[in-house]
Amino acid sequence: MTINDSRFLRACRRQPVDRLPVWMMRQAGRYQPSYRAVRQNVGFLELCRSPELIAQVTISPIDEIGFDAAILFSDILVHLPAMGLDLSFEKGEKGKGDGGPKIANPVRSRSDVDALKIPVPKKDLPYVLDGIRAINAGLAGRVPLIGFVGGPFTVASYAVEGGSQGFTRLKTMLYAEPQTAHALFEKLTQAAIVQIEEQIAAGAHAAQVFESWLGELGREDLEEFSFPYLAKIAAAVRKTGVPSILFSTGTTGHVEKMAGLGFDVISVDWRTPIQEVRARIPNVAVQGNYDSTILFGPKDNAVARAVQVARAGATAPGYIFNLGHGIQPGTDPAIVKAVVEAVQAIRI
Ligand code: CP3
Repeated sequence: MTINDSRFLRACRRQPVDRLPVWMMRQAGRYQPSYRAVRQNVGFLELCRSPELIAQVTISPIDEIGFDAAILFSDILVHLPAMGLDLSFEKGEKGKGDGGPKIANPVRSRSDVDALKIPVPKKDLPYVLDGIRAINAGLAGRVPLIGFVGGPFTVASYAVEGGSQGFTRLKTMLYAEPQTAHALFEKLTQAAIVQIEEQIAAGAHAAQVFESWLGELGREDLEEFSFPYLAKIAAAVRKTGVPSILFSTGTTGHVEKMAGLGFDVISVDWRTPIQEVRARIPNVAVQGNYDSTILFGPKDNAVARAVQVARAGATAPGYIFNLGHGIQPGTDPAIVKAVVEAVQAIRI
């Protein structure tokens, strides 16, 4: 089977598959003993900057759990230093977990926005592109590799707030200084486009936009401050020929609108039944939407609920089993594996 015929890429294109493709956001991460062992010796950003370690941690869940796609190990904020922002992960040093991002010089004014530079991936982020090549060498065609970037609103929330501190400053900027907000979103969109284009050129087989916090905005603000920028990113990916996925949470009230932005796949959270989402947007593929908290157990319930979600999602071609958000630290890898195997055993 060639990569192009893989179940994951076929499902992105809404082509029939013999069984469902399964992968999980944060499938490489702290729930794995092997990831925690790597993090004993290196800080989080240091890990993101080593092509060899990127390849090792990206491939480990394929070997250990058997997912049907790999996702580049990196972060949606890695390019911020190249844009001029002083990024660190608090408590993200050796051996420690739960390191949230911190930006020492957050973007607060029009002149801050104007000073932001557009990164040049080959120069500023060579480790990401070398990491992609090393991953594909290590995978040797076993599964496709998903590249990713952060969505403009979600990245802006960190750039403006200075960390995981809510959304008040950013949202106030939308209302008080809409031109500044537009200039910021435009720059973050350009930064996302150059990164995803280079990731695809380096060998990524699909592209996911992580717009995790989009549910903070109401419809009117989405239409003005988010959707036009997301549509630009989707159009840029479309030109490369690889499938694109838009991930967000708290947004199923807007799925019809999101399905019209030009993405091939819409990834939704657990709050709305998957069959309802599929019925509302029949012209795109859908990814999701199992609640990652169910993975804490008990195991029998976790497996039964996964099969339920999978069957409900698989009513037509174009469904990828995934979570509604990422795997949480403390999850038992044995339950993750049991869920993956149960979904893969379903014949459709
Ligand atoms: O899905 C994957 O496994 C790919 C790798 C990936 C990471 N972060 C690794 C990571 C991806 C796609 C991201 C995206 C990301 N990063 C998002 C959007 C997706 C989401 O989960 O909502 C956001 C908001 C960030 C910014 C970020 N990075 C935060 C807020 C944090 C701290 C919170 C946390 O989970 O620890 C990170 C750190 C981070 N990114 C870790 C991992 C595995 C944990 C770092 C560690 O201590 O080892």
